[in-house]
Amino acid sequence: MHGDIESIVLTEEQIRARVVELGDDISRDYGEGSVLLIAVLRGAALFVADLARAISTKVEIDFMAVSSYGSATKSSGVVRIIKDLDESIEGRHVLVVEDILDTGLTLKYLLKNLSSRSPASLEVCTLLSKEGKQRVPITCKYVGFAIPDEFVVGYGLDFAERYRNLPYIGVLKPDIYSEHV
Ligand code: PRP
Repeated sequence: MHGDIESIVLTEEQIRARVVELGDDISRDYGEGSVLLIAVLRGAALFVADLARAISTKVEIDFMAVSSYGSATKSSGVVRIIKDLDESIEGRHVLVVEDILDTGLTLKYLLKNLSSRSPASLEVCTLLSKEGKQRVPITCKYVGFAIPDEFVVGYGLDFAERYRNLPYIGVLKPDIYSEHV
């Protein structure tokens, strides 16, 4: 698996240190209250597991799974909820946890959907944000790293469902892509 990686973009140590900083920021902002982390499957599952443990505020965790209507229409921004939340978010402080913000279309849909459920507050924490790629404006209160527009895998991010378990984030060798095309 490691042999398929051309270069490392963010090391395990860099990710670990930044997750601790994000956890500190979130703990400071939410203080003695509580925060409901909503992780968007599947990519954010690994990030939320580490982030939650870096937060000292009382945390609850729920998950949503969404899918665009086929990869060809991903850019349309039409998103389908595959798995909804298990509980109501009305009156609760909600923090959406994402692994990567790319075009912003997924988060735009999610935030609109979640805000209609009357949370007390609604913010976003994304580990990665691709610079210059957002097609819709999304306000992320917490951003781990701004990265260039490269296809990255690892720490939850996949290529054809693989490489999510890499402890770092990296770029695949070009021939690995072509094998799948
Ligand atoms: C990724 C990521 C975000 C979305 C961001 O999910 O986890 O949910 O794409 O892209 P956008 O800003 O262009 O909308 P993906 O569809 O790859 O699913 P996965 O998390 O299950 O890998």
